[in-house]
Amino acid sequence: MQILPRKTLTQFLIEERRRYPDATGDFNALILDVAMACKQIARTIAVGALGEVQVADAGAINVQGEVQQRLDVLSNEVFLRVNEWGGHLAGMASEELEFPYPIPPHYPRGKYLLAFDPLDGSSNLDVNVSVGSIFSVLRAPERCIDGKESEVIEQDFLQQGYQQVAAGYALYGPSTMFVLTVGNGVSAFTLDPNLCEFFLTHANLTVPEETHEFAINASNSRFWEAPVKRYISECLAGKTGPRGKDFNMRWIASMVAEAHRILMRGGVFMYPRDNRNLDKAGRLRLLYEANPIAFIMEQAGGRASTGRQSILSVQPSSLHQRIGVILGSKNEVERIERYYTDPPGIELPDPLFNERGLFRTPA
Ligand code: AHG
Ligand code: MN
Ligand code: MN
Repeated sequence: MQILPRKTLTQFLIEERRRYPDATGDFNALILDVAMACKQIARTIAVGALGEVQVADAGAINVQGEVQQRLDVLSNEVFLRVNEWGGHLAGMASEELEFPYPIPPHYPRGKYLLAFDPLDGSSNLDVNVSVGSIFSVLRAPERCIDGKESEVIEQDFLQQGYQQVAAGYALYGPSTMFVLTVGNGVSAFTLDPNLCEFFLTHANLTVPEETHEFAINASNSRFWEAPVKRYISECLAGKTGPRGKDFNMRWIASMVAEAHRILMRGGVFMYPRDNRNLDKAGRLRLLYEANPIAFIMEQAGGRASTGRQSILSVQPSSLHQRIGVILGSKNEVERIERYYTDPPGIELPDPLFNERGLFRTPA
């Protein structure tokens, strides 16, 4: 028999825990439950239209006013069922639920909170393009843990991103991966579908500081703020422009997949605040999309910003709050932040924003 050459996620967590002799094991058990939820979702996605769950949309609209796919609903159920029983959580919050989910009274309550996007990029499902799940672990307030009366409320989740205990995502791509930070670097695990185990394949991931690749939905360009227009126009100007080098562009429409590419080879991802709908401060949600991915990026030496401040320093004001997101290779994100702080009235380089330019603003 061949001995397995790699560490499993379980072994990795046990070895990490040895560094904290007082740890109870609750945290490890929670992460393994989250990983189990991801494995179940991965299995359902992997069989596509052959499975019992059709990938076509459920014809429903979620609390965010967005089209809900059947797999959004199913993945949410999987996350709730697999994580509610273990006694590690005081409550959960999901993109698909308007209010926080309290742990049912017949289960013990634990000291952590879990916020998640059960399926990210779900508009990619019917075209068989990568999707993922994103999660964030926070500490629960004392009053919610076992034996105490009080249930979790929205306020309990409104913690700044730097207070996260752990964050991660699963990527359901050509292979399924589980990427985790516990505030001590970033590790990535690949699912062996035969053993149904995650194995450590990428230790201490680091995001290259320099890049020549950016990701943005350019169909929103007419709504972009001036610093974003300036940055993108400079990238597009290539070798002969102010940056003096050519850039490449990608857009998958699944932040998990974009974040993963950036972790692997660098780049910058932007879903910035824009002027399309001034009531919404961006497209992505702070608590279960932006914060966990920002934590991972910063733990890998990258940077995550709204353009105006570090994402991890934003004080959340509501459970489903949206936020502008600019993340990835540090030098690029810092450059964009400088464009935000530069005085207004910056000269935009021709010809991209002039009358006939690619990204001109209509009168
Ligand atoms: P979700 O599927 O959870 O609603 O999230 C999709 C998000 C994000 O992953 C992606 O970057 C963005 O929406 C894509 O938006 P556009 O369709 O505007 O490109
Ligand atoms: Mn999402
Ligand atoms: Mn989602």
